[in-house]
Amino acid sequence: MSTVIKASNLVQGYGKTIVLKQVNLEIKKGEILALIGPSGSGKTTLINSIMGMINPQKGEVTLLDTRMPNRKILSNIGFMAQTDALYWTMTARENLAFFGIMQGVPKKQLKKRISYAAAVVNLEPSLNKQVQYFSGGMKRRLSLAIALVADPQILILDEPTVGIDPELRQQIWKELHHLASEGKTILLTTHVMNDAWEADNLFLIRKGEAIAQGTPRTLIKKYEVQTIEEVFLKAGRLQDAHTSND
Ligand SMILES: Nc1ncnc2c1ncn2[C@@H]1O[C@H](COP(=O)(O)OP(=O)(O)OP(=O)(O)O)[C@@H](O)[C@H]1O
Ligand SMILES: [Mg+2]
Repeated sequence: MSTVIKASNLVQGYGKTIVLKQVNLEIKKGEILALIGPSGSGKTTLINSIMGMINPQKGEVTLLDTRMPNRKILSNIGFMAQTDALYWTMTARENLAFFGIMQGVPKKQLKKRISYAAAVVNLEPSLNKQVQYFSGGMKRRLSLAIALVADPQILILDEPTVGIDPELRQQIWKELHHLASEGKTILLTTHVMNDAWEADNLFLIRKGEAIAQGTPRTLIKKYEVQTIEEVFLKAGRLQDAHTSND
């Protein structure tokens, strides 16, 4: 299988503060990878670096064998940022149409694509409502629908399941698995451990370093524990022991 997303020896930060230290990440076509780590560990920084929104301080990021930042590649990506970027005085339908057209959805297909994306996140009843009247969870759901509207090859989703109830979360996961089976590549971040079990591969990040990666089952076995949380704690302790030896 071919590599779709790759970060090599990525060092990233803000000014003099280093946030990501030599991160290496590879995601193959049709794979779902979940980025897991505590608040402030560098997940969004990594996502934004992969999107090309911030230039690497060192190392490089490639998407579909193209070095980022690259504007042309962006039309292949459905992106959901951690902070919703929506037009508040427009309806949900208008937001979906706007972003759909921006992403190159042909006019003829727009209606069908909007119906599909709204259905995945159960937003059909609210399509004609202005976003300013939406709850926080509804805005997250609309942001996810926007990421899906143009049928992109790559989905990059920063905390897509925040504010989403368990039933809808299951429905969304079903669709993400379906998309992956069609060859779509999916990178997401999450704090929800149930999400971790849905992913093909996990990438555990702590203090800007990858502390463990692999399938959920492999990691549980390797660290001889019962849960992903315990994998995280054990890998974290090893990281601290390693750092204090330096
Ligand atoms: N624009 C910025 N300027 C300066 N520092 C920043 C900026 N964005 C993030 N940081 C810092 O970089 C570190 C990593 O932040 P990041 O947002 O990548 O974490 P995260 O893992 O996504 O956290 P969360 O789970 O809370 O979303 C934090 O220490 C944060 O304070
Ligand atoms: Mg974040």
